[in-house]
Amino acid sequence: MATTKETKRILDVDDLHVSFKTYAGEVQAVRGVTFHLDKGEVLAIVGESGCGKSVTAQTIMRLVPAPPSFIKNGSIVFDEKTDIVKLSERQMQKVRGSEMGMIFQDPMTSLNPTMTVGKQISESLIKHQGMNKSQAMARSLEMLRLVGISNPEGRLKQYPHELSGGMRQRIMIAIALACNPKLLIADEPTTALDVTIQAQIIELMQELKEKTESSIIMITHDLGVVAEMSDRVIVMYAGKIVEEGTVDEIFYESRHPYTWGLLRSVPRLDAENKSDLVPIPGTPPDLFAPPKGCAFADRCPYAMKVCLENDPEKFVIKGEHRAACWLCHPDAPHVERPVETGGAV
Ligand SMILES: Nc1ncnc2c1ncn2[C@@H]1O[C@H](COP(=O)(O)OP(=O)(O)OP(=O)(O)O)[C@@H](O)[C@H]1O
Ligand code: SF4
Ligand SMILES: [Mg+2]
Repeated sequence: MATTKETKRILDVDDLHVSFKTYAGEVQAVRGVTFHLDKGEVLAIVGESGCGKSVTAQTIMRLVPAPPSFIKNGSIVFDEKTDIVKLSERQMQKVRGSEMGMIFQDPMTSLNPTMTVGKQISESLIKHQGMNKSQAMARSLEMLRLVGISNPEGRLKQYPHELSGGMRQRIMIAIALACNPKLLIADEPTTALDVTIQAQIIELMQELKEKTESSIIMITHDLGVVAEMSDRVIVMYAGKIVEEGTVDEIFYESRHPYTWGLLRSVPRLDAENKSDLVPIPGTPPDLFAPPKGCAFADRCPYAMKVCLENDPEKFVIKGEHRAACWLCHPDAPHVERPVETGGAV
């Protein structure tokens, strides 16, 4: 969908289904995900482990190995023109290097241990931006300064194993941002780091958000990071989006019992009292054979008969705030959100 100049749409994901073929059967990891991202926006994706956050994000960059994965259905329109799903690997390589960047949880898995930092940053600049070697090295130096690496000239000649975890993550960010990507995806960029370094990396990402014009998808388990950095939030459960809205709508006016449970169960880096956390009882459903009704039904204290039979549609609460829960149906009984907020803001 085309939008006005001020709100250029960077990403339009529509009814995306991604599965894995395994010996035991088909794992339906992403089951009909629809969302969008506008220029300059930061979108957070939250949800328990295994709910499909990384598969969704990596499918946007077509980084999920296929096979065993396959895109069963849906489209991912990037920059209002390209359907990522339809691109060949060769075409995708171009998009990846020049228009999208990704920061992973563990920089060591994505940095090349046999190449110096300088070579790794400059490589894609030479390949995708048509720079010569000295231009690319100058830009690499500029990027290391931007991400706050001390002694950047010296670092360019070092190998990843000679750097600390925090520095390696900064290098990953530098590589991801070197080509000025329209879209930056950060998949738990701070989880592998110690708490002080986590805070520094988040501060850096916030600064970069102001300086660059990239749109960001941020996957994180930390609600403090969500509150500080993002504009909108998607809550995923068992391969689907169960609630979406602005940060305030999700934290203060959420309508889905899973969102309530998540807000009470997830610790915040900046929370003073972590003792109020209440885990969500039970476990997510098996994605080999997801239930036909609401996937949260067997863990939900408010489950009704209809929940077991029919998967709820996404009800519009207000504007872009939507929740897939039968409690949002106009004829449903009224249920108040539990008062305790635990780790939430
Ligand atoms: N290579 C694979 N083969 C089979 N199933 C897979 C594969 N990769 C992921 N899955 C399944 O897809 C589902 C979604 O996984 P995904 O990695 O997206 O979860 P996540 O939300 O990112 O979790 P986490 O918070 O732990 O990173 C999970 O059930 C997972 O087991
Ligand atoms: S649809 Fe039913 S089971 Fe699912 S979250 Fe809502 S009330 Fe609970
Ligand atoms: Mg993940």
